[in-house]
Amino acid sequence: MTGKIITVTQQKGGSGKTTLAAHIAVACAKNRHLKTAILDTDPQGSLGRWFMARKEHANGSGPDMTFRTASAWGARYEAQALAEEHDIVVIDTPPKMGVDGRPAIETADLVVIPVAPSPVDLWATEPTIEMTRGEKKPSLMVLNRANQRARLTGEIAQALKELGTTAAETMIGNRIIFASCMGDGRSVMESQRSGLAAREILELTHEIVMSLKQQAPR
Ligand SMILES: Nc1ncnc2c1ncn2[C@@H]1O[C@H](COP(=O)(O)OP(=O)(O)O)[C@@H](O)[C@H]1O
Ligand SMILES: [Mg+2]
Repeated sequence: MTGKIITVTQQKGGSGKTTLAAHIAVACAKNRHLKTAILDTDPQGSLGRWFMARKEHANGSGPDMTFRTASAWGARYEAQALAEEHDIVVIDTPPKMGVDGRPAIETADLVVIPVAPSPVDLWATEPTIEMTRGEKKPSLMVLNRANQRARLTGEIAQALKELGTTAAETMIGNRIIFASCMGDGRSVMESQRSGLAAREILELTHEIVMSLKQQAPR
C-alpha cells in the first residue's frame, strides 16, 4: 500500500494547523473509513495531547488511527514509512519552520495551508507557497476562522484566488466548538454530529480526497 500524505503547514502560529490536521484525520478515519495516521512534527506536541485525550475517552475501544511524532528533518522518512501501511497520513507542522519545513513539504502529495482572513496572515503564507511551488507540490489554501459575512473575508478569499494557488471552495467558520472539542480529544463531528462545523469539515475533506484522487499514483 502506498497511501497519500497530506501536510498541513503555514509559517504563522495560530492559523489552525493543528485543529485542521486533527479534523481532516478524523474525517478520513471515521467518516470515509480510510486507514489513517497522524504525524506530529511540532515539538509543542499539541496534536499528541489531543490524541492522548482521545485515547482516554475511547472507553477501551482501540484508537481509530495511528499516532507518531518526528523531528522536522525526520518527517519525510517517518511519513513514507506510515504511508506503506495507511491510506492517509496527515502531518502537522510547527510555525516558523523556514527551510526546516522542506522535508514535510517534499514528501507531501497535497499541502494544505490554513489562512486566517487577515492581510497579515496572508503575507505570512508567501514563504510556504514559494516552497510548495519550488517542490512542485499541489496545494490547497483553506480560509479558516472565516466570518462569511465580513467584507474582509471576501477580500481575502479573492486575494487567495489571485495568488495562483488553489483555494478550497469550503471555508471553515470561526466557531467555538472547534476550540472546545479538541480538549477532550474529539472532533466537531463527534461533538455535534449535524452542526455547521461538522458539515464544513466533511466538505473540506471531500475536496481534499477529490484532489488526491486526481493525481497519478506515486
Ligand atoms: N475554525 C476555528 N474556529 C474557532 N477557533 C479556532 C478555529 N481554528 C482554530 N481555532 C483556535 O485557534 C487557536 C489556534 O489553532 P491551532 O490549530 O492550534 O493553530 P496552529 O496549529 O496553526 O498554531 C486554538 O485555540 C484553536 O482552538
Ligand atoms: Mg499547531
